[in-house]
Amino acid sequence: MNPQESGKPVLTFFLSLLMLTAFINPARADDHSRGAEIFQANCAVCHGTNGEPDPDSELVKGLGVVPANFADALFNSREGETEWKLVVTHGGAALAFSDKMPAFGETLSEEDIDATLEYIKTLGGEHDYPDGSLNLFLPIRTKKAFPEDEWVWKQRYTGEDGDNQWKNTLEYEFRVGERLQGVLEVTHETEGGDNEFGHFEPGFKYVLKHDKRAGFIYTLGGNLGVPLNGNAEWELLPYLAFGKILSDSWTMQGSGRLKLSLEEWDHGSAEFAGIVHWTHTPWPRSVFPALELVAEMPFERGSGADKKSAVQVSVLPQVRIGLSKRGHVAVNAGLELPLNDTDRYDWRAYAYLIWDFADGGFFEGW
Ligand code: HEC
Repeated sequence: MNPQESGKPVLTFFLSLLMLTAFINPARADDHSRGAEIFQANCAVCHGTNGEPDPDSELVKGLGVVPANFADALFNSREGETEWKLVVTHGGAALAFSDKMPAFGETLSEEDIDATLEYIKTLGGEHDYPDGSLNLFLPIRTKKAFPEDEWVWKQRYTGEDGDNQWKNTLEYEFRVGERLQGVLEVTHETEGGDNEFGHFEPGFKYVLKHDKRAGFIYTLGGNLGVPLNGNAEWELLPYLAFGKILSDSWTMQGSGRLKLSLEEWDHGSAEFAGIVHWTHTPWPRSVFPALELVAEMPFERGSGADKKSAVQVSVLPQVRIGLSKRGHVAVNAGLELPLNDTDRYDWRAYAYLIWDFADGGFFEGW
C-alpha cells in the first residue's frame, strides 16, 4: 500500500467518528449554530463578527465605550454565564455597565440567550484559563481554589476573657498566565497594649485541574511566612483546595493545609476546612449564607500527660454580602464558635472586604 492509500481508511475513520459525535449530540450542535446565528444577527454589529469589536467602526465610535471583546481568552474566561445572562437579559445597566449594551429579554427567548452565551464562550478560542463559573465565594477559613485578581482586607476579633485580640490581614492576589496566581499578604496584630506586624506572606496558587462542565476545580498553593517581629516564627503553609458546583443553588469548597513552623516542629498544625454556600439568586448584590466547618490538629496535641483532644473543631456561620451591583466589591462576615476544647477562645468574629479589581475600579459598578 502506498502512503496515500493507507491514509484513506484513517480519514474515513475520523470522518465517521465526527459524524457519530454529531449524531450522539445533535442538540449541542444545533444550539451552537443557533447561538452563532443569533450572535451575528443581534450582537456582531457592536461586538464584531468574531467577538472582537472594531474600534474604527462608526457605530462603535458612537457608543463612547468599547463593547466587550469576547475574542480575548482571559476576558472571555473570567466571567461565568450567570452574570452575562443578567447583562444580556436586562441590559448593561443592570450590573452597572454602560446602558449602550441593550437588553434582549424582550426580544430573545431564554433558550436563545443561553445558546448565544454558549456560542460567545467559544469565541475565546482554545485556552487553559479556568472558567469564571468556578470562581466561588471566598470563605473565611477554607482556601479558595480559583486564581483571582483581588484585594482582600480581613479582620479577626478574638473574644477571650480579658485577653481580646485583633488581627488584620491585607492580601493582594494577582493572576499570572493561565493557571497561576501570586499572593502578597501582610498581617498585623493587636493584643492588650501590644501592637505589631506578624508576618509577611508571599505565596502562589496553581490550578491542577479545572473542568467547567463537571463544575470542578482543584488547586495546589502555598505561602512562606516571614516573621516581622521577635516572637513570630518562619513558617511554610502548603495547601490543596477544591471547589465544586453542586447545583444552581449550592456550591461546596474544601481545603487541607499544613502550617509548618521552620523553627519548632510542634508549633505547627494541620487544618481541614469545608464550606457550603447557598447561591439562591444569580444577582450578585444579595446576601449569601454559608456554613463552614474547621478541624485543626496541632502537632503538639494527642500525647503526653496533659493530653488534650487531638482534633479541635469549630463551626463558622457566615454571610457573603454583595455591595456593588456587579458584586465585585463585597463583604463576608461570620462568627467562629469552638465545638470542643472551648478554653482556646470564647468566640471569634471575622469581616472581610473583597475587591475583585479585574471587574472594575472600587467605585465603579455601584
Ligand atoms: C449597541 C451595541 C451593542 C449590541 C447590539 C450588543 N452589545 Fe453587548 N455590550 C455593548 C457594550 C458597549 C458593552 C460594554 C459595557 C461596559 O463595559 O460598560 C457590552 C457588554 C456586553 C457584555 C458584558 C461583558 C462584561 O463586561 O462582563 C455581554 C455579556 C454582552 N455585551 C453580550 C451581548 C450579546 C449576547 C449581544 C447580542 C444578543 C450584545 N451584547 C449586543 C454593546 C452592545
